Formats: sequence, C-alpha cells, structure tokens
Amino acid sequence: MTFNYQNANIHYNVRGKGPAVILLHGFLESATMWNPLIPLIVDKHTVITIDFPGLGKSEPIAEVHTMTMMAEVVDALLQKLNIDKATLIGHSMGGYITLAFIELFEEKVAKIILLNSTSKADSSERKAIRDRSIQLMEKRPKAFISMAIGNWAVEDSREKFKEDLDFLKNQAYTFPVEGIIAALRGMRNRKDRTEVLSKFPRPKYLLLAEDDPIIAAKETGKLAQQAGVEVKIISGGHMSMIENQSALISFVQSALAH
Ligand code: MLT
Repeated sequence: MTFNYQNANIHYNVRGKGPAVILLHGFLESATMWNPLIPLIVDKHTVITIDFPGLGKSEPIAEVHTMTMMAEVVDALLQKLNIDKATLIGHSMGGYITLAFIELFEEKVAKIILLNSTSKADSSERKAIRDRSIQLMEKRPKAFISMAIGNWAVEDSREKFKEDLDFLKNQAYTFPVEGIIAALRGMRNRKDRTEVLSKFPRPKYLLLAEDDPIIAAKETGKLAQQAGVEVKIISGGHMSMIENQSALISFVQSALAH
C-alpha cells in the first residue's frame, strides 16, 4: 500500500490484530528486513511496516532526510491508520528515528525496542566518514553499498550469511541514490538524544551486539542503562536480524510480552 507525504509515495503495510507495533528499518534496508519477525508477532499485534522516504520502494522527499522528518512521516502514517498509541521497534537508523519520534510525540508511544542502535550523535570521526560516504555514493553508488553492508557483519558472518547479505545489497542497489545520500546527511546531522531517551517514562529496551562495528556495545549499553533502559548484549555484528536472528527474535518477543 502507499500514502502520499509531501508529494512522495511512501510504501507501508498493515497486518494482524491487537495493540499496534510499528517496525522501523535501518539505513540501506527496507520493510523486508522484518519478514522473519512478522509471522511470529502478527497473531497478537497489529503490525505496521514502512519504507522510509528514499529507501525501499518509497520516493525521496528532500536533500536531507532528518530523523525528525522521518519521525513525522511515521506520525502521518499512524494518523492515517487512526492509531493513537503504538510500540516502536527500530533497527539502527530506525532507532534514531524512534528517539526523534518520542521527542515529538511521547504520549503516542507505549514502549520502545531499539536494536543495534544508540542515542548518541555522530562523533567528529563518524561525521567525516559520512562525508566520505556521500562522496563515494555520488561517484560509485554500488561500491559504497556493497562495502557498507559488507562491513556491518562480522567476518565469520560474511560467508555464512552471504545469501542474506547479497539480498540486502541487491535490494539497496535499486534505491534512489539521492534517497541514500539524504539519509546519510540526516544521520550525520542528528543530535544526541540521550536526554530524550532518559526522560521517556515507559518501558524501553535495547539490544546490542558484541562485535558491532557501528555501535560500540559496552559503551552504548552503559549509557542506555543509565537512561533506565533494559539492555541485552548478544554475539555478532551490526546485522543481528541476520547474524543472530533467534536471539533478536526472542528479545523482541519477550520485550513485547512484558
Ligand atoms: C544503520 O544500520 O541504520 C546504519 O548503519 C546506522 C549508522 O550508520 O549510523
């Protein structure tokens, strides 16, 4: 299904019955990343997925897709569906957007479940990497996508989960170049939302992976615990949905059940 947001077609899907859960994918991903989880939670929940603007099948909106703007797109979808309260589950960039959402619409959120994500802003080193990524994306998009997705998984996983990682790469090659760049700019410019996370008064969970090259597990876990978040650290790299699927799914199921 699609809806129109600022003249862009945004793809979404709704399945199941029960309390609403909205699944927010990460950078270079789309709603397809949730396919292994959906059948396991759809009996007891209304499960909503979305492709963020400029990723998946959704059209880009602007030159910079800020986390706030993406949170506003999520809100527009929930309003369209007449949903006034939902649990948000966000992977990585989807987690940054979850935090932007609670900053704006805290009263609409029942619970948050963050996966391989952080409340921290980009460090200056990371901002410099974003700038180089944008340059590479402008010149050699396929090389950037292949390298980025390849680097997210730990070395062991690269062969073991080659098919899933190749699926992700091939899917991302079809995304509009300007959409990917807009998301890179949005992540680069995002602010620190540790305070926002800390103030959120309802249940909050964070799953981290020991060898995640993007989100440092120990440091991020400590910070989140100080913000009152229930944290679990599992093995593997940044792509827990692929690299440690059973642990991710049981974490989400138990967080949803509490
Ligand atoms: C993601 O998986 O959404 C991104 O890798 C997050 C990031 O680059 O900060």
